[in-house]
Amino acid sequence: MIKASDFGSDFSWGVATAAAQIEGASDQYGKGPSIWDTFSKRSGKIKKGHQLVTACDFYHRYHEDIALVKLLGFSVFRFSISWPRLLPYGDGLVNEEGIRFYHNVIDECLEQGLTPYITLYHWDLPQALEDEGGWTAFGINTAFNAFVSVCAKTYGDKVKNWLVLNEPFGFTSLGYMLGVHAPGKTGLTNFFSAVHHTAIAQADGGRILRAEVSGANIGTTYSCSEVIPYTQSDADVLAASRVDCLMNRLFIEPALGLGYPGEEWEVMEKFSISHSTWRHTERLTFDFDFIGLQNYFPLTVKYNGFIPVLQAWEVKAKSMKKPHTAMGWEVNADSFYRIIKQFASYPKIKNLMITENGAAYQDKLIGGTVDDQERIEYFKLYLAAVLKAKGEGMNITGYMAWTLMDNFEWAEGYNARFGLVYNDFKTQQRTIKSSGYWWQDFLKK
Ligand code: BGC
Repeated sequence: MIKASDFGSDFSWGVATAAAQIEGASDQYGKGPSIWDTFSKRSGKIKKGHQLVTACDFYHRYHEDIALVKLLGFSVFRFSISWPRLLPYGDGLVNEEGIRFYHNVIDECLEQGLTPYITLYHWDLPQALEDEGGWTAFGINTAFNAFVSVCAKTYGDKVKNWLVLNEPFGFTSLGYMLGVHAPGKTGLTNFFSAVHHTAIAQADGGRILRAEVSGANIGTTYSCSEVIPYTQSDADVLAASRVDCLMNRLFIEPALGLGYPGEEWEVMEKFSISHSTWRHTERLTFDFDFIGLQNYFPLTVKYNGFIPVLQAWEVKAKSMKKPHTAMGWEVNADSFYRIIKQFASYPKIKNLMITENGAAYQDKLIGGTVDDQERIEYFKLYLAAVLKAKGEGMNITGYMAWTLMDNFEWAEGYNARFGLVYNDFKTQQRTIKSSGYWWQDFLKK
């Protein structure tokens, strides 16, 4: 039976959240609109037309919610700062009520003996900046740097653990290439310019934190998925390597000073060459103290010539009759171990933290309880994979479960439940699920 103490006494255990997914008060207390406020109002983009106006009402309930983090036995609370709550127009005018709110959240963590980890950007770009081109526009870097500076100067005395970006590949691909997330843009031109400005932002953000926050522990996060070729045919193997290049290497390699990846793939090679001059390579590099990995699924891909550029197609877990979550994402803890190993093999990474991992299931509140045994089994398997990697000498220093409570799951709205705590979105009544109690017990041992 796996125990928390097997991971060592200095291992950090936490839960992760994000502002737009939990806060609510989306148009109150001086906050400006974010791209997700705008996007969710567009019909058809979010399942069942769900809106994030109220979400989990964390804005008003942070005291009780942080108490829940403590009650479950975690020592770290990861949350993000809503950029438009602090700077309603993206830069310039500062919203004092927003400043106060995050002081309150931080103070609450510190009073409860929890270590706050702040994510600077978890996808809620100010709409005012999107109106000027968002991540595709050159000016975004100046605005982002000003935002980082405000956060670092305001909270740097109290908070030492920082994450610059949440999953850069996630928001650039879903939001600027596929158009299924905010701001709903599509196409390769949008994607590649968003990628470049985002990669600059991750390194610039690190440098600003280093300069402004004494004793800072600075990281950034990446989504990661082992990419498995459907067959061992050359076409499938090459298709898998193209997907791996985008999903796993695109942002970490420039940060490590390796420039953009892309040998053997014309489209990426063209982008890499034009954006990897000495001037770019240097600016894209930052020596992070830790790298956050976030894993939800492996990806099986096969060659498909009808798909433009990528020429690869996902083979779904369901069609392969493999175990999967309510999102249709394959449950495969061995592949989690292997992708950790892939990242750990970059010699320049000092240490890794699992900054998100978790699963959505169709939870039901019956007689005041939610018995989510599948989620417990999921965590057991995935934690065993982390322990195995750690046991083999990979320097993994912490694990954060996704997520504290059911919340606004982006394009899925409130339908996909990932929480350790069940939320009734009508009453905002929180109910600890069996998995929450399982964590409470696990963390005691
Ligand atoms: C994101 C979270 C999201 C989770 C589950 C991660 O990609 O950082 O915001 O809720 O995945 O989809």
